Amino acid sequence: MSENAPKSWLLDRPLTGFALPTGRWAKLMGWFMGRGNLAEQREVFDTVAIRTDERVLEVGYGPGILVEYFLRAGATVSGVDPSPDMREMATARARKVVHSADVDLRVGTAEATTFPDETFDAVVSVNNVPMWSSLEAGFAELHRVLRPGGRLVVAWHGGTQPTRLAKGLALPEDVLDRIVDAMRDVFGDGERQRLGQVEVFRATRTAGG
Ligand SMILES: C[S@@+](CC[C@H](N)C(=O)[O-])C[C@H]1O[C@@H](n2cnc3c(N)ncnc32)[C@H](O)[C@@H]1O
Repeated sequence: MSENAPKSWLLDRPLTGFALPTGRWAKLMGWFMGRGNLAEQREVFDTVAIRTDERVLEVGYGPGILVEYFLRAGATVSGVDPSPDMREMATARARKVVHSADVDLRVGTAEATTFPDETFDAVVSVNNVPMWSSLEAGFAELHRVLRPGGRLVVAWHGGTQPTRLAKGLALPEDVLDRIVDAMRDVFGDGERQRLGQVEVFRATRTAGG
């Protein structure tokens, strides 16, 4: 493992495996994530309530299940994920719905998306907030690319009825509190909610913010 591999703010060690699928087993990991996290993606899709013609950024799109849902809903979809293998997988999935020119999936991170200021109506991150190198840098960047009035939805495994796999990945209360506190520091407000399959954090970029 390279000394330069990105580190998680939570674990303070380089990302491996499902946290950053690369190399020989990346596509297999992507396939497993796609199957295993399906109910979570559906729940997040419903909670984001994307409208036709909205511009949405998905952070950490993995194999691209949610990208496909957003495209089928008529949204304009962009995304960032640090794994080139996930980019390939998600792009292939997106091509089932639109021409490749109509979806902009980039290699990038929550902390450095490469998109211009105030671009998106909604920014969504599912099952990757503990993998960011810095909570503060991640929220600041996602605030920057949201238009005033735009909404952020960040989700992580958990909820009131998690699958057996997700139960093992649920985060302790003090860590969930750290996430919502960091979000409020940047957005000025924000809430945490326990849904059926995921723990969700939401904030809106204020008009003057
Ligand atoms: C566990 S997978 C989740 C994939 C998908 N969102 C899901 O819920 O099935 C984590 C994903 O986050 C990506 N990731 C890792 N570090 C990231 C970062 N700093 N910013 C954005 N995405 C990141 C990984 O490459 C991987 O695709």
